[in-house]
Amino acid sequence: MRIEPIIQGVVARTAHPFGCKQAVLEQIHYVKSAKPISHGPKRVLILGASSGFGLAARIALTFGGADADTIGVSFERGPSEKSVGSAGFYNNIFFKQQAEQAGRIAVNINGDVFSNEIKEQVIEAIETYFEGEVDLVIYSIASGMRRKPQSDEFWHSVIKPIGEPVSGATVLLENDTWIDTTLPPATEEEIDHTLKVMGGEDWENWIDTLINNDSLAQGCKTIAFSYVGPEMTHPIYLDGTLGRAKIDLHQTSHALNLKLANFDGNAYATVCKALVTKASVFIPAFTPYILALYRVMKEKGTHEECIEQMQRLFSDKLYARTPVPVDSERLLRMDDWELNPDTQTRVQEIVEQMNASNFAELGDYQGFKQAFLRLNGFGIEGVDYQADVDLSLFMPSR
Ligand code: NAI
Repeated sequence: MRIEPIIQGVVARTAHPFGCKQAVLEQIHYVKSAKPISHGPKRVLILGASSGFGLAARIALTFGGADADTIGVSFERGPSEKSVGSAGFYNNIFFKQQAEQAGRIAVNINGDVFSNEIKEQVIEAIETYFEGEVDLVIYSIASGMRRKPQSDEFWHSVIKPIGEPVSGATVLLENDTWIDTTLPPATEEEIDHTLKVMGGEDWENWIDTLINNDSLAQGCKTIAFSYVGPEMTHPIYLDGTLGRAKIDLHQTSHALNLKLANFDGNAYATVCKALVTKASVFIPAFTPYILALYRVMKEKGTHEECIEQMQRLFSDKLYARTPVPVDSERLLRMDDWELNPDTQTRVQEIVEQMNASNFAELGDYQGFKQAFLRLNGFGIEGVDYQADVDLSLFMPSR
């Protein structure tokens, strides 16, 4: 079959296997030519390894100088009679193929990160492939829900303000239309549930499990990703439900740092730049900011995608300096270029003028949409989109 992009709202319903392959290859190519990671970790566990920051971190650590072996956990869907499968499913396949060709170990574990079964499978994989220990644990999960332990019920995360309603715009990628929205404040229950899904609890569960199984190597580090953003985004992000969960994650990083001190290790919440990913396009009332930010950072030559952020994190910060550079709240800041005062002044000017009829000219809507399509393997040079793709090649029975 020929595979075309199908978008519903801000969700991609199709992905192109060979476009995903090409996107992985391009990221590998980038890290091979970038400033290399010296003194990097050799055995890395990545929770949320199939897309966005997790995939970029995996590529950077394998091909960007550290020559790391990796175990990657993700929750992805393969092709079936009804669907072509998710981009992350294909990213996993082609990452593994490339890593193994380069002589590296790359283990993919597909399943629910919050479950005990997956924790047990990972411990077993660490025994089998890493001689029982890991040097770095990356927590890069973005999820809308978490199954309650031993239950058929779920906690659902919501993206809402806290206290007051917030108005803003979202651009539907499906038909390129600007939708003005007003989001009501979250209820206490919604705040608590979002914290359960996106806060630090599961990160801590993972580190405890690894400690209890003697799976942390001496000097082991762990990181999880956060976002802070400028003041104009605080009502919907930092002061809202997601921000509440991120603050919990920051607090968890301090608790984990104490636990890891027993191993001469460290834990950091790493604050990244706002970027187009499968997860971030869901954030309502955030699009005008990101459109303006893409435009200004590209004009200034400071724009980075996930892969540039991750390569810089490891080559310039996490493994480059002792002590690791952190801010007054002990956060590792990769949003330094985003929050540059000149950049923010210009972004603010653009956002103030942006509306339903001029967003594509004032902001980098073309770049935003292109980035979204690329995440799903579309719009990538060198891929023959007219060719038939035999999806049975990727089905488990083969
Ligand atoms: P993404 O959607 O590209 O990746 C999420 C990963 O989590 C995927 O590998 C997915 O398979 C995995 N996952 C989701 N639910 C799972 C489950 N139940 N079990 C196993 N795996 C599961 O998201 P992105 O944007 O890379 O987000 C990663 C982290 O980075 C999140 O904590 C996010 O808040 C944070 N972040 C994102 C920013 C952005 O602008 N995209 C900015 C700053 C931080």
